[in-house]
Amino acid sequence: MGIEFTKIERGESATWNPEVDETLICLDVHQETHDVKSFTFASPEGKRFEFEAGQYFLFDFPTGADGEARCYSISASPHRTNAFTVTVKRVPGGRISNWLHDHMAPGMTVRGQGPLGHFIRPKGERVKLLLLSGGSGITPVMSITRDLADRYQASDIVFLHAARTPADLIFRHDLSGLATRMKGLRLQFLPETVAGETSWPGLTGRISPEFLKLAVPDIAERIVMCCGPAPFMATARSITAALGVPSENYIEESFDAAVIDEPGLDVEAQPAARTFQVEFSKQKKTLEVPSGQTVLAAAKKGSVRLPSSCSNGVCGTCKSKLISGSVEMNHNGGIRQREIDAGLFLPCCSKPLSDLVVDR
Ligand code: FES
Repeated sequence: MGIEFTKIERGESATWNPEVDETLICLDVHQETHDVKSFTFASPEGKRFEFEAGQYFLFDFPTGADGEARCYSISASPHRTNAFTVTVKRVPGGRISNWLHDHMAPGMTVRGQGPLGHFIRPKGERVKLLLLSGGSGITPVMSITRDLADRYQASDIVFLHAARTPADLIFRHDLSGLATRMKGLRLQFLPETVAGETSWPGLTGRISPEFLKLAVPDIAERIVMCCGPAPFMATARSITAALGVPSENYIEESFDAAVIDEPGLDVEAQPAARTFQVEFSKQKKTLEVPSGQTVLAAAKKGSVRLPSSCSNGVCGTCKSKLISGSVEMNHNGGIRQREIDAGLFLPCCSKPLSDLVVDR
């Protein structure tokens, strides 16, 4: 493809450092379905990536004056360490997904931070899972399945993937291939309609209590990992609870790719009454932050690197440790009370009430 990857080919084993490294080079673009592509990225220095299946990368794409950030889940196996792949659906009107589909090509570089995220399979000998995905929410659960396949670990997985039509089933053939060699993997595709494939052999419709009871009779014994659009996850959450899945066995990815790719999520600074000193200890930078401004807005202005995506207290991407000081935080579910109790906060929706030291 005309790109020099000397160090990658030599297999040098330096490891990607999420605190320092940020340049990624696109190695490959692959069309998965009519509106979904997979993009594979590597480090130009051939560094190895260490990530957990289910995590994501936060990209800073060179669109607009300041660039724009978006999170995309990794769809590849964590056992392939020289590169990682994200899989992106073209969202109608979505600035970044359309830019990626139209412009990203092998050899291009972008900035990325990661791996990030906590949508990770509980570890243990006994792996009895229900992976539940809707639309492009399949990406992290695909990574989890590929991870288990590469481990050759005995597992009992029901992989239930819902999409609009059979043509929208991402990784349909990859999953079918995996199911032929993973004895404990049972696939259940659920298109809403069979438009374009009248010989569809299975059930159609949306997830419902009746369908889940039939498809997964032992659902209450499984750990459920769910990712998809917010309404899909809300439905899945209430059905699985009604079918006896304890809340501690239900795990969902907290961001919604479709929401994240909507325009107009930028942060506005508020008028200030006074200023506070905010120190970012790892980056050894201190900023003067007006009391009416969020810590993330100040960090962006002051060229401090902070992962972010929704800028609205939803996705949890910016979650950081507050070493000292206090903030007024108005989040929208992107952080749990026990995390707040452990000293974490969301800089995107937090304004300083005192001088702060942030572990970034
Ligand atoms: S950027 Fe989404 S919660 Fe802060």
